[in-house]
Amino acid sequence: MKKKRVFLTRTLHDFALNELKKRYQIEVHSGKIPIPKTKLRFKIQDIDGLICFPYDKIDKEIIDAAKNLKVISTYSVGFDHIDTQYAKEKKIRVGHTPEVLTDATADLAFSLLIDILRRVSEGDRIIRCGRWQEIFGAYDYVGVDLQGKTLGILGLGRIGGTLAKRAKAFDMKIIYHNRKAVSKSKEKTLGAKYVTFEKLIKYSDIISIHVPHTTLTNQLFDMKIFKKMKKTAVLINTARGKIINEKDLIVALDKKIIAGAALDVFESEPIGKNHPLTKIQNVVLAPHIGSSTKETREKMAMITVKNLNLGINGKTPVYSVGY
Ligand code: DGY
Repeated sequence: MKKKRVFLTRTLHDFALNELKKRYQIEVHSGKIPIPKTKLRFKIQDIDGLICFPYDKIDKEIIDAAKNLKVISTYSVGFDHIDTQYAKEKKIRVGHTPEVLTDATADLAFSLLIDILRRVSEGDRIIRCGRWQEIFGAYDYVGVDLQGKTLGILGLGRIGGTLAKRAKAFDMKIIYHNRKAVSKSKEKTLGAKYVTFEKLIKYSDIISIHVPHTTLTNQLFDMKIFKKMKKTAVLINTARGKIINEKDLIVALDKKIIAGAALDVFESEPIGKNHPLTKIQNVVLAPHIGSSTKETREKMAMITVKNLNLGINGKTPVYSVGY
């Protein structure tokens, strides 16, 4: 029997590729990342399964080009790059990889929090450009304590909740905002107090974003919001770049409307060395590495393959979006 065809927009771990090769005829895009749209539109025509990554925009036009596609399996928890509604209409299943990356992403958010408050990356930059001798004074180059500071978590879901556990161990006060408050027992375990979005913005010393990118959260953090934050506050984003209006953030950081930001995600990725954010000192930049640990990435690869195997055979993926 002819093997089903699977296309990957980037390579995966060897064990995952070998697993796929046993069952399918596979092709892996090697070349410019992200894969150019014209190539993806061409490749998707005859395949049964697609493995994609967050930079690949799987919109109506791409979905319409597919004649046999049964499943889109994304190597990410986020799926805002896929038109999941349209995929559902076309009876194409969509799988993603939540849960396994919760700890790694919360760890990264917390490391960014320490980094921006204690100015670790900034110190690294100071040494590398030979300026250490300028910062010996008692008042020079001070950070701020974590203990006693109020961490505002926007989105107390899996990752936000795990971040709260880390923050509690560092004696931080935790407030959060969700569409709906979590259970009292979860609030108690995490030591987190529900507040309105307005209060979260107003009272937090640190705000960490853990909501998905949707039409409701698109550009949620703009100048209006930055002006309502404490002047001493910092913003951490390990969710999706488009939740922040980057132009406004750059002005807010530059004019010290807020004290700093630590970002793992950007409006358009990857950013280059001349991006305006790279010129600003009070910001820490990471290249979208929230889930990037050896263990987590291997688990993500396993789930990506499982989701594909199920979806390609008309079954619901382990972690399914839509149906
Ligand atoms: C995800 O899985 O969505 C993370 O942002 C890594 O891409």
